[in-house]
Amino acid sequence: MTLAGHQRQRQPHSDCTAPRGAGACHDHASHADLNCLWLVPVPFPSDKPLEIHTLLPSALFAKTMLSSLRIASRRAAVTRNFAAVRAASTWANVPQGPPADSFEKKINLGVGAYRDDKGKPYVLPSVRQAEQKVIESRLNKEYAGITGVPEFSKSAAVLAYGKDSSALDRLAITQSISGTGALRIGGAFIQRFFPGSKTIYIPTPSWANHAAVFKDAGLQVEKYAYYNKDTIGLDFEGMVADINKAPNGSVFLFHACAHNPTGVDPTQEQWKQIEAAVKAKGHFAFFDMAYQGFASGDIHKDAFAVRHFVAQGHNICLAQSFAKNMGLYGERIGAFSMVCADAEERKRVDSQIKILVRPLYSNPPIHGARIAAEILNTPALYDQWLVEVKAMADRIITMRALLKENLERLGSKHDWSHITSQIGMFAYTGLTPEQMDQLAKEHSVYATRDGRISVAGITSDNVGRLAEAIFKVKG
Ligand SMILES: Cc1ncc(COP(=O)(O)O)c(C=O)c1O
Repeated sequence: MTLAGHQRQRQPHSDCTAPRGAGACHDHASHADLNCLWLVPVPFPSDKPLEIHTLLPSALFAKTMLSSLRIASRRAAVTRNFAAVRAASTWANVPQGPPADSFEKKINLGVGAYRDDKGKPYVLPSVRQAEQKVIESRLNKEYAGITGVPEFSKSAAVLAYGKDSSALDRLAITQSISGTGALRIGGAFIQRFFPGSKTIYIPTPSWANHAAVFKDAGLQVEKYAYYNKDTIGLDFEGMVADINKAPNGSVFLFHACAHNPTGVDPTQEQWKQIEAAVKAKGHFAFFDMAYQGFASGDIHKDAFAVRHFVAQGHNICLAQSFAKNMGLYGERIGAFSMVCADAEERKRVDSQIKILVRPLYSNPPIHGARIAAEILNTPALYDQWLVEVKAMADRIITMRALLKENLERLGSKHDWSHITSQIGMFAYTGLTPEQMDQLAKEHSVYATRDGRISVAGITSDNVGRLAEAIFKVKG
């Protein structure tokens, strides 16, 4: 009998140059490491087949009546085999990954979370205060309802749609497991109830997890043009052409602001034209708003596309995340909402959202929701939070400007204006995969091979060295 097999083995992400070792690839952790796993053949436990009879020495002895010499030599062989089996652990053939880079000035631009100017994780003071109030309230730890903490979801809706929005009275909303969970609920709802084709169009490129989330919910995923690599900007004509080309009544996913991974957003004027094209084709718009306030520093400006579509009569659906704008990454706090035709439709949609959520995770966690609700419903804390979100956005905007300035000061003849025209946490540098490899190998600067850098990983301290490294690689 031969014991051999294929096992699931962890391999480094193919498009990530982040340093291996503890805390290496933060952003891919936020994609649930989906792309970091694939099946590879792993021979078990050595590449020579094991014969089962070598594990049964006494049975062999009784059957074969071998000479004492042959028995002795077989015993020795059996002992060796047992020792070999014991020594060859299940994971004996797992190869060692590349060593972690111990260079103390290495720069990790693969991070998918905000860092302060010292490169450290940041807990917003408004979050600290809200959490303190929640703890002091000594609330019980009972389950939330299926759709979560109502004080949270009501205020999340106002934040997204605006306090005077016509959507608020006809909105089915549920708290979700952050933005990812909201997208997953939306995908499942469309899969179950959307009357047209169960296909969702996402931009090229898009956040790495979008396709996985929607496929997992049973939808087909198609792509529409979004990024023009020649201009390192928006392929607006291509995008509108693809909206026009898709069958009438298709589902389109839009990043509401701070497009991940490109940092390229349509202007308000372009959003108006996109809305008109979507309306003309009778498409259904699904917005993913993972960065409200974090992009421009202004929660209203960042919600422009969402609010404009609603004002123009679209009954959109929306995934919200509080991971970035409140820094509540690990609390997994978000919301999924569906704008309905009227209150009666809302009741039906709401009941079906509950039926969907119940077998997924029963009901959402309460702690992050209580913190977010405290901030959104306490005027002084809310005002303080607005200042803090703006400060995060401003630091990122400043780092973009400093990087561009440093590159120009070094004499780069390349046009770096896209670094400052893009928005949000990520910048598409336009560097090739080979240039990104060179940045990693020769300069200890790590990011994804598609040329995306997380601006959150840039600090006043490392921006000079980063610019020098990019200048050496790109000129
Ligand atoms: C575009 C986009 N959507 C959704 C998410 C979901 O994040 P989370 O589940 O942490 O809220 C992210 C996170 O990086 C993102 O970039």
